[in-house]
Amino acid sequence: MIKGIALGVAGLAAALTTALPVTAQEAVKIGLILPMTGPFASTGRQVSAGAKAYMAAKGDTVAGKKIELVIRDDGGVADQTRRIAQELVVNDGAKVLAGFGLTPLAMAVAPVATQAKIPTVVMAAGTAAITKASPFITRTSGTLPQYSMPVGTWASQNGIKKVVTLVSDYGPGIDAEKWFSKEFKAKGGEVVEAVRVPLQNPDFAPFLQRVRDAKPDAVFVFLPSGVGALFMKQFSDRGLPEAGIKLIATGDVTDDDILNSMGKPAIGTITGHFYATAHESPENKAYVEVFKKVNNDMRPNFMSVGGYDGMALIYNALEKTKGDATGPAFMEAVKGLSWTSPRGPVSIDPDTRDIIQNIYIREVKDVGGELQNVEIQTFANLKDPEKAEAK
Ligand code: PHB
Repeated sequence: MIKGIALGVAGLAAALTTALPVTAQEAVKIGLILPMTGPFASTGRQVSAGAKAYMAAKGDTVAGKKIELVIRDDGGVADQTRRIAQELVVNDGAKVLAGFGLTPLAMAVAPVATQAKIPTVVMAAGTAAITKASPFITRTSGTLPQYSMPVGTWASQNGIKKVVTLVSDYGPGIDAEKWFSKEFKAKGGEVVEAVRVPLQNPDFAPFLQRVRDAKPDAVFVFLPSGVGALFMKQFSDRGLPEAGIKLIATGDVTDDDILNSMGKPAIGTITGHFYATAHESPENKAYVEVFKKVNNDMRPNFMSVGGYDGMALIYNALEKTKGDATGPAFMEAVKGLSWTSPRGPVSIDPDTRDIIQNIYIREVKDVGGELQNVEIQTFANLKDPEKAEAK
């Protein structure tokens, strides 16, 4: 009998909850921290646009909770990212933190995530070590080792013998240099020089001269999203294509946001990455359509898909926890989640909280008057190799 009453009370509570309008229920506030201004503003624009496209497609309610997105600009400065994260959690009641346009910005928030046990979704930054910095961090972008290594495989199988690497001198660049070189050398290639360029305001001219002097078959490049157009211009102006030096890179360099503005010099560039606007699938067709509709006809790049899938992860995890966004429950729910992204099939590695995904080798081609990253080869379901190696 007592059991019956207890069930009755629980039933009543459930009924009341269902009967309440969604707006009267506790909302789940998501603090989206991004560089909306400064040199990496294109990342902030794309990630936030992807997150908004997800909410436009799927609505703003999940497991009976209203989802509220609060976008804050850190200007790409790590101290700001940390300060904003603390404010969002302590003063504004944010239950989930997300965004993070560059590795140092994600790293700055890791202690906040750990101390406050706040689920933190990295939607953009790509250094492998980020998910190791806090057990409350997961990621929907990818890691540099994951998408640099296949470029090494491709190069070794396509007649390239001698390479110079050129990367931005910070976390993701070091990861890209290491994993491209490791794979390329293991398959018989030779890396004759490793050039590192400053992250801020790079002038590529002296570095490109060093590449030219080394007379490699190809130069392998990583630069963060947004910088590729300037690099492409200097690469072409300094005559590297005429010197017979092929450009191979991570897809950050031929980022779909700016690819069209690069013009002819970009054609033929080979890159490895997890997303191209030109990816052929029904899910991507629907994504590009809704994205353009809610974002003024803007072309979505890989950063936007990190934002879109970050929201997919949050919605799927909340569905699983029945709306519980507290750190331990949420992070448990994240492990092993899988869904079909605009980029292809993805899942969250239960051991590392990083994303398992296809990596595509693409070639820049003129498709009906627009430059596109056209997929030519697929490496299916890759994990982050850096963490697999450490095991
Ligand atoms: C990073 O800082 O982790 C980062 C930034 C831009 C990219 C990739 C990685 O395109």
